[in-house]
Amino acid sequence: MKSELRQDSHLRRTLVLLGMVAAMAAIFALDTLTEYAVAAAVFHTAIILVALRWFSPRTVIVITGICIVLTLASFALTPAGAYRTGLINTCISILAIAITAYLGLKMVTAQNAAHAARTQLLRMTQATSVGQLTASIAHEVNQPLAAIVTSGNACQRWLAQQPPNLDKAGQALGRILADAQRASEVIVRMRGMARGDAPHKQAFDLNEAVREMLRLSQAELDKRSVLVEADLASGLAPAFWDRVQFLQVLGNLLLNAMDAMQDVPPQRRRIGVATQALGQQLVLTVSDAGHGLSPSAQSHLFDAFWSTKSQGMGLGLNICRHMAEANGGRIWATDREDGASGAVFHVTMATAARERA
Ligand SMILES: Nc1ncnc2c1ncn2[C@@H]1O[C@H](COP(=O)(O)OP(=O)(O)OP(=O)(O)O)[C@@H](O)[C@H]1O
Ligand SMILES: [Mg+2]
Repeated sequence: MKSELRQDSHLRRTLVLLGMVAAMAAIFALDTLTEYAVAAAVFHTAIILVALRWFSPRTVIVITGICIVLTLASFALTPAGAYRTGLINTCISILAIAITAYLGLKMVTAQNAAHAARTQLLRMTQATSVGQLTASIAHEVNQPLAAIVTSGNACQRWLAQQPPNLDKAGQALGRILADAQRASEVIVRMRGMARGDAPHKQAFDLNEAVREMLRLSQAELDKRSVLVEADLASGLAPAFWDRVQFLQVLGNLLLNAMDAMQDVPPQRRRIGVATQALGQQLVLTVSDAGHGLSPSAQSHLFDAFWSTKSQGMGLGLNICRHMAEANGGRIWATDREDGASGAVFHVTMATAARERA
């Protein structure tokens, strides 16, 4: 296919070159056979313009040289007319040919430079997006991978018992498979998000999804001695979001809440997760008893790569905001209303009923 295209372009250039040679010969003949007063050589400028479109700068310079030589030759061979006029016309023609070639070549060089700059910019943008995508995937699969390791360790312990507890080991294996599946779904979503694909919205039970994420985070919550108090409203209309992305958002909010309470005594480490209906929307809130939001955190929370943690990437909330907005929702943070220290994150979600309306 590629070689066919190359042949095609080669053929076209050969035809253009033949056409140009014929045109140059015709101009030369016209310029030579007419009187000095007829400055037919100036038409060589058209030849230069065509050459600029089809050939390399070096070929254009050669063609320009040939045009000038032909102009001089036809001046020498012209049999009749006022010599002085002929001389002036020849000089004007040569000047016109040279200026056309010079300006044309400058324009081509500028166009090439602009093209090269555009290509470089595109490559830089792609490299940045690839870097961001890599960082985002690494961030989002970290949680399922950590869960896989925890369940893998548990599975090993159950198998090492005498006699082995196959039931428990089987359950741990089940969790490993579920987490591996989640990690692969997360990668698909992150790649889709980087490509600008629309989220895979579906109607689902919000409370059920919250319970699933709490189950998935249980090992991490236990490790950090954090208690979760869930206040899930009953009778909620189904949420209409990308369910995998919802789990990612909640997972990130839970992790941040746990991080914020690192220096709080274990007995006060509590996360509140609540769902409620607000008009035709659903609202999820995640509150903690951590250090709360500093004024600078308030204004930068959702910026990419903004983090106050030594090990933080500063991507979690940025990803959450992208996902919330792509699903037609909103995410924001406030201080706790009860005056206690801590932050509250709110996420609004459309319901399936509203989406149909
Ligand atoms: N619940 C919270 N309480 C107080 N500050 C928070 C809370 N959640 C986030 N922040 C602040 O917002 C910053 C950005 O959070 P984000 O989740 O985007 O990145 P990160 O947690 O620092 O790193 P990572 O990319 O690994 O998630 C945090 O570094 C922290 O300063
Ligand atoms: Mg985070």
